[in-house]
Amino acid sequence: MTMTIPVAFVLTFALITTPAQTYTLSQDLSGSNFLSAFTYNESAIDYNNYGNVHFLSQSDAVADSLTYVDSNGHVIIKVDNTTDADGDSTYGRNSVYLESNEMMTIGSLLVFDAVHIPYGCSVWPSLFTQGQDWPDNGEMDLVENVNLATTNQYSLHAGSGSCVQSSSATSNQTGTTTSTNCTVVPSEDENTGCVVEDTQSNSFGAGFAENNGGVYAVLWDDSGIAMWFFNRSSVPSDISSSEPDPSSWSTASAWYPASGCSPSSAFGPQTITLYIDICGAFAGDTTTFDETCSSVASSCTSLVQTASNYDNAYWEINYLRVYTTNSTTSSGTSNTYAVSHNTLLAVFVAILAFFTIT
Ligand SMILES: *[C@@H]1O[C@H](CO)[C@@H](O)[C@H](O)[C@H]1NC(C)=O
Ligand SMILES: *[C@@H]1O[C@H](CO)[C@@H](O)[C@H](O)[C@H]1NC(C)=O
Ligand SMILES: *[C@@H]1O[C@H](CO)[C@@H](O)[C@H](O)[C@H]1NC(C)=O
Ligand SMILES: *[C@@H]1O[C@H](CO)[C@@H](O)[C@H](O)[C@H]1NC(C)=O
Ligand SMILES: *[C@@H]1O[C@H](CO)[C@@H](O)[C@H](O)[C@H]1NC(C)=O
Ligand SMILES: *[C@@H]1O[C@H](CO)[C@@H](O)[C@H](O)[C@H]1NC(C)=O
Repeated sequence: MTMTIPVAFVLTFALITTPAQTYTLSQDLSGSNFLSAFTYNESAIDYNNYGNVHFLSQSDAVADSLTYVDSNGHVIIKVDNTTDADGDSTYGRNSVYLESNEMMTIGSLLVFDAVHIPYGCSVWPSLFTQGQDWPDNGEMDLVENVNLATTNQYSLHAGSGSCVQSSSATSNQTGTTTSTNCTVVPSEDENTGCVVEDTQSNSFGAGFAENNGGVYAVLWDDSGIAMWFFNRSSVPSDISSSEPDPSSWSTASAWYPASGCSPSSAFGPQTITLYIDICGAFAGDTTTFDETCSSVASSCTSLVQTASNYDNAYWEINYLRVYTTNSTTSSGTSNTYAVSHNTLLAVFVAILAFFTIT
């Protein structure tokens, strides 16, 4: 008897208070509330990437209909596709560079649901996060590729200190690693990052849009950084119901375990960034451009002057949600309910067990 009671108590307590990690919704962005959660950085002169774009202020972007909520309640973020600039070889097309007002901290899960990602020869969209001090506070690229690519590319970028995707990671991801060193050297213009290509068709470009898009997610915690793509018909139901449990999802597309790159020291609080660039260091790189667009134009910049080349250069977004497991984040509200509820239940069951046994 004297042995049984504590055992019963400990067992019931352990069973009930060890649920799967709880993810608490801290930012739920869609429609107009999405656009008001971001700042339009018109001074982002694209120093890093040398693209042919001008980033507009919020008032100019709204006046030019570059950002709005459409009749389906979807957020549209696009480059200008109404202005022709024939004869101006240095033309910078109007676009936007959006930075989230709230930062995401370690212990967060970001989920992004879209039906259209910008594409087209010379077009370079990206949804990524970046620390305050770039590159020392890190960068995580969740959705990115260029021109007429059909699959998405994931990457991390880090500052001084060793940050690599360790080789053990590849047995735990479905994507294909093309570069393992995440370290950026700004003074040498070295900014490839550690890159993983998704192998799923429809993860980018026209195929993504034709398949009604899908969901991207990045989970950043002490074990590492994992990134997923789910096409529309394979989105886990716990994502749709806003009760995500990444431990139940299929193998990630990209996985960066803590063993090769410290998720806490190589990355500081992250600003979510969404934008569309044109040409520049990636889309405009001659080799990259020719891979999918050599039959369309002889050079990237020759496309920029013609508005109709940008009819597909838009994001159409259902929502962006950030969940946190971290009660100390500045932006999140902690879910103490789940813990205290379970604790109360455990105490109740233990008392019940006590009376049943005695
Ligand atoms: C806007 O972008 C520029 C250039 O990338 C950067 O230096 C600046 O810090 C950004 N402004 C804000 C408010 O983030
Ligand atoms: C919570 O966030 C803070 C601030 O970014 C960080 O220092 C801490 O390690 C995080 N805790 C967990 C459990 O992720
Ligand atoms: C595989 O990935 C999961 C997260 O998706 C992680 O918990 C696990 O430790 C990883 N295993 C290895 C060997 O990296
Ligand atoms: C990664 O790249 C950086 C910068 O070029 C270099 O200093 C470092 O030695 C590289 N790390 C590995 C493991 O190759
Ligand atoms: C969607 O993803 C599932 C699971 O990976 C795959 O079996 C299916 O073929 C994909 N559908 C399309 C249209 O790509
Ligand atoms: C510009 O792109 C939009 C899609 O964002 C499309 O509806 C429109 O027809 C395109 N052309 C013009 C001239 O606006």
